[in-house]
Amino acid sequence: MDQDHFIPAMKAIELGYDILLEKPVSPDPEECKKIEAFAKEKGVKILVCHVLRYAPLYMTMKKAIDDGMIGDIVSVNAEECVGNIHQSHSFVRGNWGNSKKSSPMILQKCCHDFDILQWLIGKKLKKLQSFGTLTYFKEANAPKGSPEYCYQGCPAADDCLYNAVKIYYDDDERYKDRWFRSAAAGIPEPTKEQLEHIIKNTQYGKCVFKCDNDVVDHQTINALYEDDVTLTFTMNAFNKGGRFTRIFGTKGELTATEDKIEIYDFGTGKTKEIPIVVNEGDAYGHGGGDYGIVDTLYDYIMGTYTGNAASSISISVENHLASFAAEKARVEGTIIDIDEYAKTL
Ligand SMILES: NC(=O)c1ccc[n+]([C@@H]2O[C@H](COP(=O)([O-])OP(=O)(O)OC[C@H]3O[C@@H](n4cnc5c(N)ncnc54)[C@H](O)[C@@H]3O)[C@@H](O)[C@H]2O)c1
Repeated sequence: MDQDHFIPAMKAIELGYDILLEKPVSPDPEECKKIEAFAKEKGVKILVCHVLRYAPLYMTMKKAIDDGMIGDIVSVNAEECVGNIHQSHSFVRGNWGNSKKSSPMILQKCCHDFDILQWLIGKKLKKLQSFGTLTYFKEANAPKGSPEYCYQGCPAADDCLYNAVKIYYDDDERYKDRWFRSAAAGIPEPTKEQLEHIIKNTQYGKCVFKCDNDVVDHQTINALYEDDVTLTFTMNAFNKGGRFTRIFGTKGELTATEDKIEIYDFGTGKTKEIPIVVNEGDAYGHGGGDYGIVDTLYDYIMGTYTGNAASSISISVENHLASFAAEKARVEGTIIDIDEYAKTL
């Protein structure tokens, strides 16, 4: 879990190991800074699993931007659509529902977004503000008479979109063989008996409105980068899922969905699709990012890496600070100056 990264990472650094470290580096900003400083002191390389950097979609976007296809970036709109079932599984019923036991949503899910957006924009973050709440997945919205566990006979069972029996047990085509069933079981291809155990005895069987979750189900960020580049970013649970990005430049506009990139060129007045090069193996996990980071790791550690996707631990930590600052801004209702915030750590 997120809070378990720090101690083994520090031990590994002490022993001189290079590390492939899962995000978040730590849910505590001071621990992030300590890992960064100790790695520097010991000359150890740490690659944080910001897998999107290695996904063909984002590598193609980065190249198009660096090739000048949209001119200088002026503004960015980005959406992290978590997906309603993904939210209910991971961020309501699951391990990341309660920020005290794991991380705030904006760190756990969106540290990827802050990292990838900073990489694409290519400038330092200066200021941000944030709004967001947990609005839907809470007891006030529980159906009248709903029991603690869905299998116990909920009066709303037929209509509830989050009925755990349907999601984790029934042979419903939408949910059968999906990743959240094996994730709940902790093994691939769980049996019917194992799924029955899940809905009767684990957090995944609980009424989605009666869990101990406190992380937000929607949050927005308004941010300012160097050279007056602006970003509006939103994460929310109420969608099919996927990341969507629009980047507005002085010469054109780039629009990216999950598997398609288009550029509208101001000069020609035409929109053209930018082909995404997908190599063997790239098609899997995180849009090819899982394959890409592992493919990069060896060269990165050996000092033979020539690409531009991998980043140092310092950049990863700097981009994590954006998430910590965003959470502070949301909770305190303030605008955070990133340099001033970093000085407090
Ligand atoms: N880079 C990414 O895109 C990405 C995606 C998903 C998860 N993650 C990160 O990976 C980490 C794990 O997430 P996950 O989705 O694999 O969780 P998970 O719950 O599916 O798996 C975690 C595994 O760790 C085991 N475990 C828990 N505590 C342990 C301990 N003290 N010692 C040994 N084993 C222990 C559990 O039994 C489980 O098998 C989290 O920090 C998460 O943020 C990163």
